[in-house]
Amino acid sequence: MNQARKLAEIVGSQNAGKNAKTRFLTITSGKGGVGKTTISANLGYLLAKRGFSVGILDADIGLANLDVMLGVKPQKTILNLMKGECGVEDILIKIDERFYLVPGESGGDILKFGEGYALERFFEEVKKLDFLDFIIIDTGAGIGESVQTFLKAADEAIVVTTPDPAAITDAYAMIKVLCDSRQRLLFILNQTQSDREGRQVFEKIRKVAEKNLPNVNLRLLGQLSRDSEVAKSVRGRYLFSKEFASSRSTANLNEILDAMLQLMERGVLETPEESGIGGFFKRLLTKF
Ligand SMILES: Nc1ncnc2c1ncn2[C@@H]1O[C@H](COP(=O)(O)OP(=O)(O)OP(=O)(O)O)[C@@H](O)[C@H]1O
Ligand SMILES: [Mg+2]
Repeated sequence: MNQARKLAEIVGSQNAGKNAKTRFLTITSGKGGVGKTTISANLGYLLAKRGFSVGILDADIGLANLDVMLGVKPQKTILNLMKGECGVEDILIKIDERFYLVPGESGGDILKFGEGYALERFFEEVKKLDFLDFIIIDTGAGIGESVQTFLKAADEAIVVTTPDPAAITDAYAMIKVLCDSRQRLLFILNQTQSDREGRQVFEKIRKVAEKNLPNVNLRLLGQLSRDSEVAKSVRGRYLFSKEFASSRSTANLNEILDAMLQLMERGVLETPEESGIGGFFKRLLTKF
């Protein structure tokens, strides 16, 4: 099948090439296991439900990857695309209406490959993804160099933490490293017992951060409460936001989305640098 037709078939013809303003959201955390992948997958699904075309890119190949969580088995990844071994249509996996997985590799591998290679063809090829309104990137935990590079290149950085003291300490370490390169950091508090607990934890982080780092701007997007159904959905490899559309946890994520879209709407006019797919991957792989 010809490549353009294959892509059109995967994405449907309705919106291919629609916009060149893909927004990149990176989801990260200081400590591992706080819920990045669960949140990336379900936020992505809910964004798509609202009519946006959404891709989620796995930049953290660990144990519970996005592909495992979504119950798919990618044959090729973005690394094959970078090597020129295949086209976008060979890696993109449609999960649901307007919702796609862009299979990744560990962030470090992606960046390492970017060094010293002629990537013009890749930059051209990934432009085929510019029909996506959003790409959510699930990064690894911690303040490693590759995670930082992904965070710097993205339009928005979202830090996930839980009320666990170790997670808070690590989130704080993350803020310290990131605040030089990006002023605004968005937060999602996960696994909270109550809204009150979540807000208190966030206020504590914010106070300490603002006292020591005068330029930092932390925003709480919202919280996702501790919910055994969420844990069950991860084990069962389904999206709780799809299976339990009227659950409290899905409502939590929709509130997070409302806050995020509202913030981003205001920010659209304030992004002077090159945006969209081409701009993102150039920033990422040429280290600015
Ligand atoms: N709101 C929640 N309520 C209950 N359990 C949750 C919630 N969010 C996440 N979990 C549990 O936490 C576990 C870790 O989640 P997830 O794999 O999404 O974290 P992660 O930050 O991506 O981890 P890693 O750093 O290893 O990539 C999941 O197996 C899930 O059971
Ligand atoms: Mg993960």
